[in-house]
Amino acid sequence: MLNFLLFFLHKPNMHRLTQRLQHKTIIITGASYGIGESLCYLLAEIDCNLILVARTSDKLCELKKQFAMSKAKVDIYVADLRDQKQIDEFIKYIKTLPIDIFINNAGKSICRPIMQSLDRLHDFERTIKLNYLAPVQLCLALIPKLQQSKGHIINVSAVNVLFAPTVNWSAYQASKSAFDQWLRSAMPELQNQQIKVSTVYLPLVKTRMIEPTKVYQNLPALQPKQAAMIIGYLLQTQKRQYKPWWAIIVQLASVLFNGIWFKLNCYYIKRK
Ligand SMILES: NC(=O)c1ccc[n+]([C@@H]2O[C@H](COP(=O)([O-])OP(=O)(O)OC[C@H]3O[C@@H](n4cnc5c(N)ncnc54)[C@H](OP(=O)(O)O)[C@@H]3O)[C@@H](O)[C@H]2O)c1
Repeated sequence: MLNFLLFFLHKPNMHRLTQRLQHKTIIITGASYGIGESLCYLLAEIDCNLILVARTSDKLCELKKQFAMSKAKVDIYVADLRDQKQIDEFIKYIKTLPIDIFINNAGKSICRPIMQSLDRLHDFERTIKLNYLAPVQLCLALIPKLQQSKGHIINVSAVNVLFAPTVNWSAYQASKSAFDQWLRSAMPELQNQQIKVSTVYLPLVKTRMIEPTKVYQNLPALQPKQAAMIIGYLLQTQKRQYKPWWAIIVQLASVLFNGIWFKLNCYYIKRK
């Protein structure tokens, strides 16, 4: 019941979604697990071309097999998007194709106090490379293609980037916020080039990403399938954003009660 109230769902109209995506070529990064994988299942019965990107080759091959009889034509591309050479190779590959939609979904989260990160600059490098630099680079490469196709960029973001920051999440929040700001800043220019931009500000989703964080295990969360539905809804409607209805209340509280939030964070750290 709580889940229903918190996550009143936006679902795509499958008929309209099918019309919108027919014959389109869609890149989905982070397609091997979690939300990206569920999105593949949602789009598999549409006559479109899916390019699935991730590191886990076996999992991508399994998905390709799984969708062999589906309407969607599925291509897979194995790449570590933190690796400059591999991104360059991927860009070379996509430059040979017509691209209509780019779904930036690959992501990495890290939950670690700063006092345990003093010798771990790599945490910040890894998150900034995957969650910020890789999508910026892919967007820069894809903009001419998307201009031609009057295409669509969808960013899978986290609702937390709209709120006051939470202790222990500096690496993740900084990198997700960086791309969110980049895209919001680029949006008017992209719109002028007839490229649509949408951002999905997701709450918690039960994927392997949140498995290591014990406090999240008992909190209300979306299922990956439901998160995929929301992305499907934005693909269909091309609306600028999705955020849960209560996000606006928390955004307001983040401004009004910023001091209290800060003290609560300090208290939480002391108790640990
Ligand atoms: N789960 C949540 O609560 C939540 C909430 C808000 C927003 N999000 C966002 O939702 C998106 C999807 O996350 P998820 O929950 O589905 O997590 P997930 O199950 O861990 O999936 C992450 C995906 O990203 C891919 N990936 C990770 N590192 C990569 C790399 N270096 N190069 C290429 N691909 C890489 C993974 O594939 P490989 O491991 O095979 O490379 C996987 O397919 C992320 O952007 C995340 O920030 C998640």
